[in-house]
Amino acid sequence: MKIPALFLWLTSLTLPGLALADNLPTPAGAPPAFRTECGSCHLAFPPGLLMAADWRRVMAGLEDHYGDNASLDAKTRQEIEAFLVRHAGPDKKTAEAGNPPRITATVWFRREHHEVPAGIWRDPQLGSAANCAGCHQRAAEGRYSEREIVMPGGKKWED
Ligand code: HEC
Ligand code: HEC
Repeated sequence: MKIPALFLWLTSLTLPGLALADNLPTPAGAPPAFRTECGSCHLAFPPGLLMAADWRRVMAGLEDHYGDNASLDAKTRQEIEAFLVRHAGPDKKTAEAGNPPRITATVWFRREHHEVPAGIWRDPQLGSAANCAGCHQRAAEGRYSEREIVMPGGKKWED
């Protein structure tokens, strides 16, 4: 369902600080290897969820990538890095990702998920907070609407 622009505008006035960011599609111009390589072990994460410096850090350490080997040939690596850096998120929103950088540690992620009960992140069925699709059923399409969330265990998310 498309939300009319006027509604979005009104909501942004009435709910200051509540970012309506339920749509995070892969930006146009992604090198094909972004989906095939960076989407092979987990979701091809939306580039806007880390800052440029953190994407450079991730791409500089693919041989030891969170315990896995995700190395690429130099040309593919450079293409993906350029794409990620071009579409990186603002520093303020993506601050505190840590080292190695984690989307799930950023200010933005913690703010969007502050209503999620802490115990859920340790659900064995979920595995990890980085398993976006473990709750956001349409994450692979870049869709994160609250109406399309099913929590581990199968319950719909009720705000
Ligand atoms: C061989 C498998 C594999 C490949 C290929 C791979 N990753 Fe990962 N990635 C992982 C694992 C494992 C983790 C840790 C996941 C966790 O903690 O749940 C991870 C975590 C991440 C995280 C941190 C997520 C978070 O917030 O905790 C980012 C960012 C990331 N990968 C980006 C990339 C990018 C960009 C590429 C492509 C260049 C890529 N990955 C390719 C296995 C892989
Ligand atoms: C344990 C389940 C769970 C996991 C895993 C999870 N989320 Fe969420 N996410 C939620 C819930 C629940 C909300 C709604 C929170 C609220 O209503 O305050 C939410 C909200 C969001 C929103 C805001 C949606 C809107 O309508 O504004 C975005 C964007 C989002 N998540 C992205 C992600 C990304 C990206 C990942 C993986 C890196 C992720 N989430 C992992 C449960 C999860």
